[in-house]
Amino acid sequence: MADILDKSVIENLLKEHKISAIFHLAALLSSAAEKDPERAHEVNVNGTMALLSNTHRVASSEKRVIKFIFPSSIAVYGIPNIDTKNRAKPVNEDEFNTPITMYGINKLYCEMLGEYYLKYYKSLNTEHSSLNLDFRCLRFPGIISALTVPSGGTSDYAPEMIHSAAQGKGYETFVRPDTIIPFMVMPDAVKALIQLNEVSREKLTKNVYNVTAFSTTAGEIADLVNKVFPDSAISYKPDSNRQKIVDSWPSNIDDSAARKDWGWIPDYDIQKAFNDYLIPEIQNRYNNEK
Ligand code: SER
Repeated sequence: MADILDKSVIENLLKEHKISAIFHLAALLSSAAEKDPERAHEVNVNGTMALLSNTHRVASSEKRVIKFIFPSSIAVYGIPNIDTKNRAKPVNEDEFNTPITMYGINKLYCEMLGEYYLKYYKSLNTEHSSLNLDFRCLRFPGIISALTVPSGGTSDYAPEMIHSAAQGKGYETFVRPDTIIPFMVMPDAVKALIQLNEVSREKLTKNVYNVTAFSTTAGEIADLVNKVFPDSAISYKPDSNRQKIVDSWPSNIDDSAARKDWGWIPDYDIQKAFNDYLIPEIQNRYNNEK
């Protein structure tokens, strides 16, 4: 284990293990970041900057390419009000880039930093024309895992609701039942990261790609959960700060560029996500704990 801000550790790791691809997953998520914005900036921005600059330094001094896969988020979008959200078509990468949270601002800025390293240093590089830091970014929707419960996110009501019900606990949902945002399950998130790492650079027409699987409301998730766990006591007590955050995120995002450029297609729609992944894996997990 090491601190993302510890430059010497990162540089040594890159050199010693001849690392060829970095998946930079460390971040403070949106709700956690609102509680401690300065710490969030430190980890999310300074941590990413340290990793980018070390990666660039090692890759250019060793004259090789290191891929930098950066997961960003629907939090980079900031839709001004609920009417605009409800009327919007699936949002593409360039629309509504006006985030309202520290986390969203951090992610959007780091996307731009990554593109800066990719383009600016490439153009300066006269000695050898190949690029050194091959920055590629995904914008994820809310992610739901059967194995871990997230912490500090604002899309966490979905996984928290499912995991609570499976443990026979009640759940007080911190958003309204009509709240809608896009989601995907963890196996699809891992698949997207691996595909983006593997695709050849020539196929990429962008450096930042939306990916999504299904859009659904908190109420629809509760209905699906109630079918399997009829005793689950799901109620609603919207938290105004967290509600404001999810209301600023799109109902749906347009991932047609990822589909076209590198064949992205999710394996799980909402039914398959519940029937084939979430319910069996979660039941398994809590049954084994009994
Ligand atoms: N899941 C993240 C969050 O809720 C959004 O990317 O903060």
